[in-house]
Amino acid sequence: MRIIAFANQKGGTGKTTCAIEVCEALFRRGYRVLLVSLCNPPSSLLCSEIFERLSFESDDAEKPTIYEALLGSCEIERALDTVSFGQMIRMSNRIERIDYLPTCTATAMLLKNALNQFESRTANVELPHFCILDCPSAGKNRALNALAAADEVIYPTTLVPSSIKAIEIMNDHWDDLRNRCSLPRTAVRGLLVNQVRANRVLNRTSMPLLDQLAKQLGTRCFQTQIRHCDALRQAHYEYTSVFTTAPDCRAAIDFDHFVAEYLYEREAGFELFERTHGFKNSI
Ligand SMILES: Nc1ncnc2c1ncn2[C@@H]1O[C@H](COP(=O)(O)OP(=O)(O)OP(=O)(O)O)[C@@H](O)[C@H]1O
Ligand SMILES: [Mg+2]
Repeated sequence: MRIIAFANQKGGTGKTTCAIEVCEALFRRGYRVLLVSLCNPPSSLLCSEIFERLSFESDDAEKPTIYEALLGSCEIERALDTVSFGQMIRMSNRIERIDYLPTCTATAMLLKNALNQFESRTANVELPHFCILDCPSAGKNRALNALAAADEVIYPTTLVPSSIKAIEIMNDHWDDLRNRCSLPRTAVRGLLVNQVRANRVLNRTSMPLLDQLAKQLGTRCFQTQIRHCDALRQAHYEYTSVFTTAPDCRAAIDFDHFVAEYLYEREAGFELFERTHGFKNSI
């Protein structure tokens, strides 16, 4: 099971959107997917409502959630819900309580331990190929748990300089906490530019900042960028993915292309992808 965290400590950069749409894109390519969100549901942002709806409407209220799974008082399997793209772990307002625990190796490893145990109990034919982690923008222990559990992190960002700066700050905090808690390094798979509009000034000034940050983090910007697309908001109003409501819209095309780039890079190397596919969305 490959564990990928979508992280950025700036709110509204598209972590939840990317997590949901990447799950759906992977599912449509035949992969088994598990989505874990560490956000607390009563967020003002629409995407969190998707989780709330998906998690709370289907089954009984007594069913264990991510909170119980992290504390080890139940197995992750008992907190699983079946959703359109595979499975996700039930959300809970209680998840925020994790942030009040003292930060130390033990509290940083709650999610990693729970997922490791899940892997060891689950047969290969049922184990998800990918586990996607949707990080919160606030919440030190929750973000730390996601980064500690992940094999790799993808930073979604808009082209607004504060979103780019927030990645640098988050990465610094993670390095610091990782050192203090003696946790292993997490590979930074790449920076994913989201909500791109045809704003040439912003694109021209922010792309060099992003390239510089990517170099600093030992990674790169994904060649695929996710364009601004109103169909995304519409899909999320309907509590579903854009692949269901508007499969031909820009966002569906871009997320599918992003997943193709990600998978291709893992299999054959980025240079080959670039040669074969060229630049798709020149904005
Ligand atoms: N490419 C896009 N085009 C149009 N709207 C988008 C796009 N990506 C995200 N959005 C919208 O931007 C808002 C913020 O996105 P999202 O909730 O995914 O951000 P987030 O990083 O998870 O926020 P938070 O840090 O609060 O959890 C949502 O309303 C979402 O629908
Ligand atoms: Mg979110």
